[in-house]
Amino acid sequence: MKSVKVVRVGHRYVRDYRTLTHLCLVSRALGAEAIYLEEVEKELKDTVADVNRTWGGDFAVIEERWKKVFQDAKAEGRAIVHLTMYGTPLQEKIAELRKRDSFLLVVGGPKVPGEVYKLSDYNIAVTSQPHSEIAALAITVHDLQKGEELKKVFGDYKLRIVPSAKGKQVEQKS
Ligand SMILES: C[S@@+](CC[C@H](N)C(=O)[O-])C[C@H]1O[C@@H](n2cnc3c(N)ncnc32)[C@H](O)[C@@H]1O
Repeated sequence: MKSVKVVRVGHRYVRDYRTLTHLCLVSRALGAEAIYLEEVEKELKDTVADVNRTWGGDFAVIEERWKKVFQDAKAEGRAIVHLTMYGTPLQEKIAELRKRDSFLLVVGGPKVPGEVYKLSDYNIAVTSQPHSEIAALAITVHDLQKGEELKKVFGDYKLRIVPSAKGKQVEQKS
């Protein structure tokens, strides 16, 4: 699998908590290693830590300024891919993107500074319509990983779902 980290540019705004939580959980479930946020509230950190403890893995939520995250990503040789409805359609760039092994996927909140467009290696649109950072992230990861992310196994879990066509089956680690 390709290595994916996520950064969300922009400060927290009112009633943002649910979106941020969903962004973290979707990043984790789809195999990202970490998400960087400008501000991390304790409640969010606790929620993700709780999910890791129960369902496994070591997905990290890290408080960091986006510019520093960009600098570190450049130093690590990651492709910096900013998801924005104004960018080049994903389907036109996916073949080129798949040649790279590691990524920093950048999503915005309500307002993204112009510098983000300049400092990113790619500005990529998942349709040229406004929608959501969570949907844009999920589709991009799925396309980059060619579906391999769906098979990720999370180590060190307490609970594991045994996939079932009907009903719920959960295994508890003894
Ligand atoms: C509430 S939207 C803001 C929409 C914003 N005007 C934009 O540049 O896409 C928040 C974030 O969702 C993501 N997003 C929304 N629509 C998108 C699209 N069609 N393609 C890629 N990303 C999108 C972007 O990362 C954006 O910063």
